Amino acid sequence: MALNVDGIIGNSPALAEVFKILEKVAPTESTVLVTGESGTGKELLVRALHRNSKRKDKAFVPINCGAIPKELLESELFGHEKGAFTHAIRSRPGRFELADGGTIFLDEIGEMDLSLQVKILRALQEKEIERVGGTQIKKVDVRVVAATNRDLEDEVQAGRFREDLFYRLNVIPLHLPPLRERDGDIITLAEHFLGRFCREKERGGLSLSERAKEMFLTYSWPGNVRELENFMERLSILCDSKEVAPEDLPDKIWTDIGETPLRKVEEVQVRPAGFVWPTLLDMNDRASGLKEFLESIEDRLLLEALDAAGGVKNKAAEMLGIKRTTLIEKIKKRKLLD
Ligand SMILES: Nc1ncnc2c1ncn2[C@@H]1O[C@H](COP(=O)(O)OP(=O)(O)OP(=O)(O)O)[C@@H](O)[C@H]1O
Ligand SMILES: [Mg+2]
Repeated sequence: MALNVDGIIGNSPALAEVFKILEKVAPTESTVLVTGESGTGKELLVRALHRNSKRKDKAFVPINCGAIPKELLESELFGHEKGAFTHAIRSRPGRFELADGGTIFLDEIGEMDLSLQVKILRALQEKEIERVGGTQIKKVDVRVVAATNRDLEDEVQAGRFREDLFYRLNVIPLHLPPLRERDGDIITLAEHFLGRFCREKERGGLSLSERAKEMFLTYSWPGNVRELENFMERLSILCDSKEVAPEDLPDKIWTDIGETPLRKVEEVQVRPAGFVWPTLLDMNDRASGLKEFLESIEDRLLLEALDAAGGVKNKAAEMLGIKRTTLIEKIKKRKLLD
């Protein structure tokens, strides 16, 4: 059976390696631990794992261990009996029971308390659980897949994560490399998301300029695919042209790659101390009369703007506060670019 990785975009060697392990492990009953920085696609991968398992027609039950208040997490996972605590007005099954026959996804397992880790270990080893406030032990048939963006070995060293649970979970480690290490995927993903957002917003397509692509490849993507996705959505809203220019990219990218966008250069450019108005003496030194002198000042400003705009007349005209056609006329008349 071919691996179904619908929705996971990318064909970098790093991702291909992950798919290779996924293909082997998905049909088994093994516990899997998915690691990787925030936004690398851990959840997407775990869903693909379930989809490619023998349990695919049974429940997939995700639970974010980091998002649920600690005192509620145990009853969320294992359920509770009526009267177990103040607000337990009726009995309720937990996620393990709901996932019976299927897969439970323990997301952000690194955030879980040590006391609860013991109970997870028991559920894994004995395949049985006990509701909070309950007296009965229930058998459950659940495949456990966990994910974390922490380094669990470090957590074990620091005494925050049980070593036995770590080894029990880490039977098959699946590591998603950060986006910056998946060069081949960055542009593919960017174009995929741009296309999708432009269609959703019913606007014309947007392509990436070569320079924008280069910048994407240099940027470190601390937020990984999620960050890239959000940038593309922003561009699909804010970018009016057909092509994404470097100037359209957020300051965060410019700072990270150690450059300054043109729009900022104007602000931070060092200016000679004190502006001095030209005098008649200056004029007589340089020109035959007022008209010629003023034109020479104008020429210098036009050339500076053209230079700063990298020769893009639209942009130079904008910087000068004149129309593009006016700029072109002036360039022609004064033979500025010959
Ligand atoms: N390879 C990919 N192809 C398409 N979309 C992706 C890919 N990887 C991640 N995404 C998208 O990026 C976003 C983040 O992915 P996901 O939630 O799976 O990351 P995560 O590793 O679980 O992050 P966190 O640690 O913050 O929970 C989602 O919107 C997901 O659809
Ligand atoms: Mg996640």
